[in-house]
Amino acid sequence: MSALLDVRGLDLSLPSYDGERPILRQVTFSIGAGESLGLVGESGSGKSMTVRSIAGLLPRGARVGGSIVFDGTELAGCSAAVRRASRSRMALVFQDPRAHINPVRSIGDFLTEALRLNRKVPRREAEARALRVLDDVGVSDPARRLRQYPHELSGGLLQRVMIASALLVEPELLLADEPTTALDVTTQADVMAIIDDLRRDLGLALLFITHDLDLAAAVCDRTAVMYAGEVIEVQPAEELHEHPEHPYTQALTAARPSLTGTSPRLPVTPGRPIAAFQVAGGCPFEPRCAFATDRCREERPSLHEHGHGVVACHHAGALDRGPVRA
Ligand SMILES: Nc1ncnc2c1ncn2[C@@H]1O[C@H](COP(=O)(O)OP(=O)(O)OP(=O)(O)O)[C@@H](O)[C@H]1O
Ligand SMILES: [Mg+2]
Repeated sequence: MSALLDVRGLDLSLPSYDGERPILRQVTFSIGAGESLGLVGESGSGKSMTVRSIAGLLPRGARVGGSIVFDGTELAGCSAAVRRASRSRMALVFQDPRAHINPVRSIGDFLTEALRLNRKVPRREAEARALRVLDDVGVSDPARRLRQYPHELSGGLLQRVMIASALLVEPELLLADEPTTALDVTTQADVMAIIDDLRRDLGLALLFITHDLDLAAAVCDRTAVMYAGEVIEVQPAEELHEHPEHPYTQALTAARPSLTGTSPRLPVTPGRPIAAFQVAGGCPFEPRCAFATDRCREERPSLHEHGHGVVACHHAGALDRGPVRA
């Protein structure tokens, strides 16, 4: 079966003061219809830029290479008309709802605009649909909310409105970029439960970006890990959680705090994360990797099948023999 979204060898460069900078390198993953994929990685690893590339929301001067195929249509370098058609089948939810909503327009106008202008749905019907979807995402007194303005709503409520607006266009793919990071813990759980329920009920495919490996494992079928602008491992979510293959994924999973753990300190990976433009010829994780060899310094590992998924490490499968370098 072909995937709903197939990202292959996606490269992205952005202009900077000293020329063009690589941001993404050879990013590769796919999402089947109705499947959920978690995208994890530290700050600056390229998660949001990956989503922006898929949605066609890149900064001016961006250069994209490789391929982004959505339901059989190539989106990399596509025309504005193809982009519009594909965008109407995907929806985005961002980390900070307040940054993505016009503060001087009512919630009702915000929710119904796309339906009225793009789909030519009459105002009354658009409002009726908005009321239904607000109810679906657990917003109380939806009729009153339609007349309110963004500043009158809490962050959690506004994020529900954003999810409602994403669902109004009846998308097939939901791109959620850290949708709960800015919310308090109980609201986070509520919003996450709404996304998860709707995804199952409506059969939506989901690309879910998070820093939280445990959350990715709870919500997603598979998890992809990014490091320095590359996808370095993709596995079934539970498998990645329990048996990470790449040394970076192993470091990430080892650094999770545990409520039952007895270790007084969490292990720390030496060195600092690097950006894609700082990567030399070899493996991006080589400077911090306890298993690195000369081959890792010289030759960039590409994603290859391993275990139940793919991993970009020359030594995948042999790491339980212990560190090669002192
Ligand atoms: N508008 C921009 N122009 C140039 N470079 C950018 C721009 N936005 C982001 N970058 C750079 O692109 C790289 C990837 O950024 P991105 O926002 O995708 O990271 P991220 O994984 O989403 O991080 P976070 O977890 O902090 O959201 C970073 O090195 C960042 O500095
Ligand atoms: Mg981001």
